[in-house]
Amino acid sequence: MANKSHSNAGHIALNKMKKEGKNHSAYIKKEDVKETTHLIYIQDSTKFLKNFPDNSIQLILIDPPYNLSLDTWDTYENYLEWSVQWLNEIERILSPTGNCVIFGGFQFQDLKQGDLLEILHHVRHKTNLRLVNLVTWYYKNGMSAHRFFANRHEEAIWLTKTKKYYFDLDAVRIPFDEETKALYKKDKRLKPESIDKGKNPTNVWEINRLNGNSKERVGHKTQKPVEIIRRFVKGLSYPNSIVLDFFAGSGTTGRVCIEEGRNSIMIDNDSKTLEYFNKHLSAITGKLFMPKFKTEINPQTERINELIKKIENDNIVLDVSGL
Ligand SMILES: C[S@@+](CC[C@H](N)C(=O)[O-])C[C@H]1O[C@@H](n2cnc3c(N)ncnc32)[C@H](O)[C@@H]1O
Repeated sequence: MANKSHSNAGHIALNKMKKEGKNHSAYIKKEDVKETTHLIYIQDSTKFLKNFPDNSIQLILIDPPYNLSLDTWDTYENYLEWSVQWLNEIERILSPTGNCVIFGGFQFQDLKQGDLLEILHHVRHKTNLRLVNLVTWYYKNGMSAHRFFANRHEEAIWLTKTKKYYFDLDAVRIPFDEETKALYKKDKRLKPESIDKGKNPTNVWEINRLNGNSKERVGHKTQKPVEIIRRFVKGLSYPNSIVLDFFAGSGTTGRVCIEEGRNSIMIDNDSKTLEYFNKHLSAITGKLFMPKFKTEINPQTERINELIKKIENDNIVLDVSGL
């Protein structure tokens, strides 16, 4: 069935619960999170993911190599064959309410094989994962071109294991500007509280790419802007849940998780990740309104299970019975 928001079982159940004065138990507030934990492993993900238990992770957020030869880690003879190794693990590891975001692009012009298009084709035909949205990340800054239209977008696919996926739209709504707000408030058909909440960001997100001299840069060539990662983390995971990024790069995901009260597990096979991540940490030191946090570098793999168990015990169990 097409994904129409008015027929989303999750929305219907949440609205019903609100009317009955009940709170969805997924609404764990960021302020209630006392401390978050962040495990960082320098490992090859295609092998290391075997250490994760089934059905255990709320959000898998990955920005894999795009096979564009942008760096030594970005060229594959058979991209899909390589990708299938981690794609199959996603289906196993993701929790039933979980979400998975995979960044990529549809930018291939030569005969080399593999990009997000092929990943999506594989997901649709060879796995049971469901596609919720294809998000287009649109940016105004980029390279010029003379033999084709200059590229100004990349994509991210949002996949789930079941229809009972967690989604907090209110956490990522975009406020209306004051003029529009005043105009809409005159319209008797619209509820004032809905206008105050803001609008659905839609599946086209205009967020600038990081320029070479951007303050956010920590040295990784293909670092993603914090803003785009934050929208996914806030909308698709709940406070104190675990977010896994197994192509961590500079650790942008970990940084956002620290700021937003989520735990994280990050994996990258390049030890430079540690250096980059320390720069992210310096950038957020002294920031208000974020829970305490601790990081563990290359701990024993048992720590993954321990963290998952601890979070399960700490959290009010996510009640999806109504979804
Ligand atoms: C596109 S970058 C991620 C950038 C990241 N989103 C950020 O904001 O900094 C992809 C990363 O995947 C890592 N990588 C490539 N192959 C890997 C593998 N087999 N296991 C773990 N990491 C890998 C690379 O070292 C690179 O840092």
